[in-house]
Amino acid sequence: MAEEITLTIDGKEVKGERGDTILQVCQKNGIDVPTLCHFEGLSDIGSCRLCIAEIEERGRTRIDTSCTTPAVEGMVVQVSTKQLNEMRRAILELLFSEGNHYCMYCVASGDCELQDMAYRFGIDYIRWPLLYPERHIDASHKYVVMDPNRCILCRRCVRACAELVGNHTLGVGGRDSEAEIIADLKLPWGESSCVNAGACLQVCPTGAILDRRSAYKGKKDQVERVKSTCLFCSVGCGTELVSRDNYLIRVEGDWEAEPNKGILCAAGRFEPLYDEERTRVLRPLVKRDGRLEETTWDEALDLVAEKLGDSDKNALGALTSARATNETLELFAKLFRGIGVENIGCLEGPIAEPPEKEINLAELDEADMFIVVGEDLAEDHQVVGFFVKRGVNNRGARLVIVDDKETGFVPLAYRWLKPDEVEEAVRLCDAAARPAVIYGARAGEELAVLRKELAGKAGFFWMAPATNSRGALAAGLSGAFNAEAAQNVYVLACDDGKVGDELLARLKKANFVAVQSSYVEPWAEVADVVLPTVIWAEKEGTITNLEGRTLKVAKAVEPPAAVKGEAEVLKALIGRLGS
Ligand code: FES
Repeated sequence: MAEEITLTIDGKEVKGERGDTILQVCQKNGIDVPTLCHFEGLSDIGSCRLCIAEIEERGRTRIDTSCTTPAVEGMVVQVSTKQLNEMRRAILELLFSEGNHYCMYCVASGDCELQDMAYRFGIDYIRWPLLYPERHIDASHKYVVMDPNRCILCRRCVRACAELVGNHTLGVGGRDSEAEIIADLKLPWGESSCVNAGACLQVCPTGAILDRRSAYKGKKDQVERVKSTCLFCSVGCGTELVSRDNYLIRVEGDWEAEPNKGILCAAGRFEPLYDEERTRVLRPLVKRDGRLEETTWDEALDLVAEKLGDSDKNALGALTSARATNETLELFAKLFRGIGVENIGCLEGPIAEPPEKEINLAELDEADMFIVVGEDLAEDHQVVGFFVKRGVNNRGARLVIVDDKETGFVPLAYRWLKPDEVEEAVRLCDAAARPAVIYGARAGEELAVLRKELAGKAGFFWMAPATNSRGALAAGLSGAFNAEAAQNVYVLACDDGKVGDELLARLKKANFVAVQSSYVEPWAEVADVVLPTVIWAEKEGTITNLEGRTLKVAKAVEPPAAVKGEAEVLKALIGRLGS
């Protein structure tokens, strides 16, 4: 336990811990200190100077930034004198005079920390001339826009990109009044090494980085926020879903959430709101004369129940997306096992058992060597990739890739080995104290070698292939599906569109296929009945992530009127089939 220290702040004796900064001691003791560049979870760099404190130490008094000054036993500190507040006001005026801060036109007005500070310090005029610098807006990025006119160079975005994502795309270019945030060596942001994690957007205190999708769609007191879990891969990142009037406008990372502590990837933060081109199913559909036509829920459910109930049990098949919640997967298993179906599986294919000795995501932050096998972290499970990038770029950990494929992480790797060179990876591990083996669905025999040779030395981290693979395992739905044998098939597709062509081609030949899906595609040619269901932001329950952690999924928006929840439909079928 850290040693306790005692300080006097604004005349009050307060306690802190050795290693705390003065700002941390203030925050622990409820003493309010204005800050702009400080952000919990990022390193402090003392750039905005708003947190200045008058510090008496060993007979000397000085003014310094409280976010970067270590608290020391016996220190006497003032953080809210008239003089300090006058200096803060002057600093704020300089920030306003230096940029082009026209609050009434700014996307962040009402949500801006700089604006809040101006109100706090009663700034209604600026003593210095407004410089009207000419700063060009960079709108080259698909998801965000950089407006340097609103930037106060707090460098939160730079630190978030480097320290949280491990990517180091953003930096500061130029000097003095020419200084500005740049991407790589001043490339247009959209052409840079940016990986669209969006952490920079979330930490920006002003309107300098704006989100194309949610800009001007709602200020903090006009929107609703719901804490949930991302359903786009098995990491299960904690999110905050931001909506207004039942319209989802933004996804943010939840800074308090395990396992990701606020970092998201493009697949969780941006893509679900931008890239959906499929047609939503709004009412039950039944196929007549080769065309899907709208029908009633009763007719659709009766037809499904009749076809499944009358079928020879050996000709029945049931498939589910492993993106469904634990609760839905249990019901699904109950329904189909109840009517004697043995041919049950997941759309994502059979799921292997997780390793016996697993490490969790947080432990990757302690690894000094990563061996990544059969997984492209630039494409899948990207947040795990950010943990690896942090290790390699920020802590000097070594990355060894064992893969036939040249993955997106190869340029970062110390060695890229082919699977038949796996013994070399084992040898390289000799120099590591805490190696971690991260493996995905493409890992083959080489994984068995690593398991054997590195047992007791390395921790193994399994990249569960689908969002809720572990939930599917727990519900007994992990086996192989025999598509050839299935003539009458029920598919719980959820909002998942990833279905293999081979499986689709086989389902086309089946006698009867009922699909519970949020979207028509890719089921239009295959399905005899489509039962509309909720999408990721409309459902609730739990999932089990790749670490085995149970995570809550919460509803942020209501589904369209005639769309029913996954469980409601399964229960209606259980009622009709008596299972
Ligand atoms: Fe300390 Fe900005 S918060 S200098």
